[in-house]
Amino acid sequence: MAETKAAKVYVTRELPSAALDPLAEAATVRVWPEELPPPPEVLLAEAADADALLTLLTDRIDAAIMAAAPRLRVISNMAVGYDNIDVQEASRRGILVTNTPGILTKTTADFAFALLLAAARRVVEADRYTRQGRWKTWGPQILLGQDVYEATLGVVGLGGVGLEVAKRGRGFGMRVLYCDSTRRPKEERRYGLACVKLDQLLAESDFVSLHTPLTPETHHLIGERELALMKPTAVLVNTARGAIVDQRDLWRFLKDGRIAAAAIDVSEQEPIAPDDPLLGLDNIIITPHIASASVATRLGMARMAVDNLLTALRGQVPPQCVNREAIPRWRRALPR
Ligand code: GLV
Repeated sequence: MAETKAAKVYVTRELPSAALDPLAEAATVRVWPEELPPPPEVLLAEAADADALLTLLTDRIDAAIMAAAPRLRVISNMAVGYDNIDVQEASRRGILVTNTPGILTKTTADFAFALLLAAARRVVEADRYTRQGRWKTWGPQILLGQDVYEATLGVVGLGGVGLEVAKRGRGFGMRVLYCDSTRRPKEERRYGLACVKLDQLLAESDFVSLHTPLTPETHHLIGERELALMKPTAVLVNTARGAIVDQRDLWRFLKDGRIAAAAIDVSEQEPIAPDDPLLGLDNIIITPHIASASVATRLGMARMAVDNLLTALRGQVPPQCVNREAIPRWRRALPR
């Protein structure tokens, strides 16, 4: 790999050594050693002489960073989402942006379903109840939840994760509705899914699970109007991006019992502020953006991010390039 050894790579967090060691053998690598993300001024300074960045979804890679990084050729994001990167600006500058799709799909779907089950059957609340010494007897009316089997599941966004959640729902005998900008007739037939408009999905579903990327179109896709369409017994699950839901509206609807419960792995502000009113409610489960956090998947994501980065440094287009429009400019800047 001598051809990439002179390349400088900045990695914004410690990764498993099984992923980082091969990168360090192939290129000159600096790693931000702390638990919290590098502050913007550090990122700016480190990007200044970097040929490649390996970033996480917590690193905002904006036009200012790219302007300060004249050698930058590739930004490899260790996430399937890449709303933390100004992709348009990267394309304008001939910088490739890559992500880590596929590898985390089933792990993320498992977690979305875990949240759905936990919210439906009030698992987290029940654990708190037990630890607080409130378990006095078997009670016929204690901690009653919603049945999941044979209920209606609404999947918003039938990409990889959405489809896996739909399949899990079918495994529980659920009726599964989905909405997406693209219809998926093959999957509809194969898995018995029904494509409907968002409003119908919200009105008919007992469980609504969100799986769209965050874009200007999906920002606050679920707000007051949409929550008002949902059943008072419904449960909302969000493992996609926090800003797809208007969190203030969600708080009002949960507090007033206008929907039964929510389970969110993502928040408009991450980490969620310690004084966020959602934290004061019992009918919401809030986890710290861990849907893809299995040992095997996080290692797989790190390896894929490293492979993407090294492929680009070798002058080849990585398969997970999300801005193919950048390729002609990127090629022109390659050393001859
Ligand atoms: C996680 O949210 C990811 O985008 O990979």
